[in-house]
Amino acid sequence: MRRPLVAGNWKMHGTRQSVEHLLSGLSKLEFSDQVDLMIAPPALFMQQCREALVGSPIRLGGQSCAYQAEPGALTGEISPAQLRDAGCEYVLVGHSERRSLFGETDEIVCRKFAAALACGLRPVLCVGETREQRDAGQTADVVGRQLQVVLDAFGVGGLAQGVVAYEPVWAIGTGLTASPDQAQEVHAMIRARFAMLDDEQAQCVQIVYGGSVKADNAESLFAMPDIDGGLVGGASLNAEEFGAIARAAGRA
Ligand code: 13P
Repeated sequence: MRRPLVAGNWKMHGTRQSVEHLLSGLSKLEFSDQVDLMIAPPALFMQQCREALVGSPIRLGGQSCAYQAEPGALTGEISPAQLRDAGCEYVLVGHSERRSLFGETDEIVCRKFAAALACGLRPVLCVGETREQRDAGQTADVVGRQLQVVLDAFGVGGLAQGVVAYEPVWAIGTGLTASPDQAQEVHAMIRARFAMLDDEQAQCVQIVYGGSVKADNAESLFAMPDIDGGLVGGASLNAEEFGAIARAAGRA
């Protein structure tokens, strides 16, 4: 069956010193071998993280990547091949902050997904609706559209090589978590959409929830049948919190 994944998205946080402190906390934790673990630090700290996590079950991920695998004139970008070379196994694509603040369209996100797969990374495809879209009853349409571009290109099998992260925009960094039922409803909808195309593969796709996941709400979210772990922002900057969330995934 599906293994849970607990992933920490550090976003644009950290200095070498604070990262050293966080890594030291993470390296003292004990993790269940039933849970996949990943952190996505700012790329500047990737090497520091790689060295500190030798022997740890925590894998590395990029927070974004260029839409092409080949080297080229893309000032400021980091290619998925470079992330792989730096020791990453995962990369987030289409995080809502990238979509809303940096203009990433579904087509660009799909190209990033493709480039990541081509480099042997597991792309974590982030999808989710805004408050206005939810209030207008558009959640299924919005999430469906965000998934469809990648489904058209790679099918359910392609998504099974990556991870889907359902992150309702209104729950990110707001302290407003989707209730376990609200999140489960969308996760089940996503899996049902996959199952219509390929039931066997649909059961294999890891679908994680993100949006104000904390130690004290993780267990009830992860207990839901279609929630396969979490993509954690703020709480992943604290080693104890991250450890507690990972333990909750191990109990689910
Ligand atoms: P928070 O956990 O801080 O709400 O962030 C969620 C997120 O965006 C993870 O990618």
